[in-house]
Amino acid sequence: MAGFQSLPGFRDFYPEDFSRRQHIFRNWRSAATSFGFQEYDAPVLEPLELYKTKSGDEIEAQLFSFTDKGGREVSLRPEMTPTVCRMVGEKAGALKRPIKWFSIAEFYRYERAQKGRLRAFHQFNADIFGEAGPEAEIELIALLIQCLAGFGLTKDDFYVRLSDRDLWFFYLEALGFTDAQARSVLTAIDRYEKAGDDAFKVYTEAHGAMPADRKDKVLGFLKIKSLPELETALAAYNSEKLAARLTDWRKVLAGVSAMGLADFIAVDLSVVRGLAYYTGFVFEAFDRKGDLRALAGGGRYNDLIKKLGYADLPAVGFAIGDVTTGLLIEQRGLAPAHGTAPQVYVVIGGEAERKAAFADIQALRAAGIRVEYPFKDLAFGKQFKAASESGAKLALIYGGDELAKGVVKLRDLADRAEREIPRDQVVTLVRDLLAGR
Ligand code: HAM
Repeated sequence: MAGFQSLPGFRDFYPEDFSRRQHIFRNWRSAATSFGFQEYDAPVLEPLELYKTKSGDEIEAQLFSFTDKGGREVSLRPEMTPTVCRMVGEKAGALKRPIKWFSIAEFYRYERAQKGRLRAFHQFNADIFGEAGPEAEIELIALLIQCLAGFGLTKDDFYVRLSDRDLWFFYLEALGFTDAQARSVLTAIDRYEKAGDDAFKVYTEAHGAMPADRKDKVLGFLKIKSLPELETALAAYNSEKLAARLTDWRKVLAGVSAMGLADFIAVDLSVVRGLAYYTGFVFEAFDRKGDLRALAGGGRYNDLIKKLGYADLPAVGFAIGDVTTGLLIEQRGLAPAHGTAPQVYVVIGGEAERKAAFADIQALRAAGIRVEYPFKDLAFGKQFKAASESGAKLALIYGGDELAKGVVKLRDLADRAEREIPRDQVVTLVRDLLAGR
């Protein structure tokens, strides 16, 4: 085998792939801007310490980490959240709140390659800092929906599953679980959809068998799919914490409904998120058919900035990935046609006419018009073929006889109509024609 291959899970972006990727980024950026988020960026390489214990065991095991030449333990970033917390933490006092930031960047995780999961992928991250109330969740869930709806995807294509880690902890506390036990239960729930009852093995090993009545309550809670069901399930518990969570749930669901987005939301307490730092609401976006891995994930992480040694600042956010989003757009036939065809193809009679053609080509391009021409002298027939294949709307023909009269021929490549135009009006006439004037 000759040459080299890229590493497993890393992609080359040929122009067609790149144009698809740009389409995705453009949509995300325009959604974020319309929601009033500001764009930032950060280093791809960070101190390893930033991810240790903060991101959680799963991500820690997947780090692309090494020792640099100065002996520092470093890692390629697997996610943006710890980094953006550091950035906000550093300047927390000076930033106007609520802080609404977004970024589009590449991340690296040493994952087992599978459909929708790679080792280098892009995420759009959007986060709000300094807002403790559920208004921030409403804003972010609406933005997440727009990040997918902007491609033409509808409620029949994707939805957002909403859950709440605090609600789980308060509920488990009300059932009599200790904090350590509750953590084990959440780990089991995270795996329950895939592993079924086996997911509880870790719990049993650490804390002994779970009494049957408690387990029934946990599995029943897991199946809750609506706010009324949730209200009924919690009615029996006299807990202020649970009541406060219910108030926030009502606010989030009412806000999202008022935006006309209720059909995109599903109450689903089986979502608990694998990352270590989430505290309250958590949510994930999935395709309706269930063919793909998660499109996006996020939630509230009120303690992370403080854990990194900065101010106590509430935070909530999400990230959406380019890999699964790209697959969904493709599946639904919403990928844009590739490429930016030239608008004008310049046909050149021969070496003698090239000089005049070059002057006009440069003037047209400087006016922002996309222009192509053949590098080498070719027969007219070949050039016209190239012109129509290029997708250009117009051809300009630089022939010796015309140039001698101070004109060039302008051909409409759709209906092949031709006329002569004065050379000194080439730029203005072509611009008007392309603008439909
Ligand atoms: P996450 O769930 O790990 O959350 O990733 C969010 C999204 O990134 C996933 O739903 C998926 O689309 C994409 N993604 C993750 N890993 C891969 C991979 N190996 N290959 C392709 N796509 C992938 C986070 O990263 C959190 N930091 C999100 C967040 C922001 N939470 C608060 N703010």
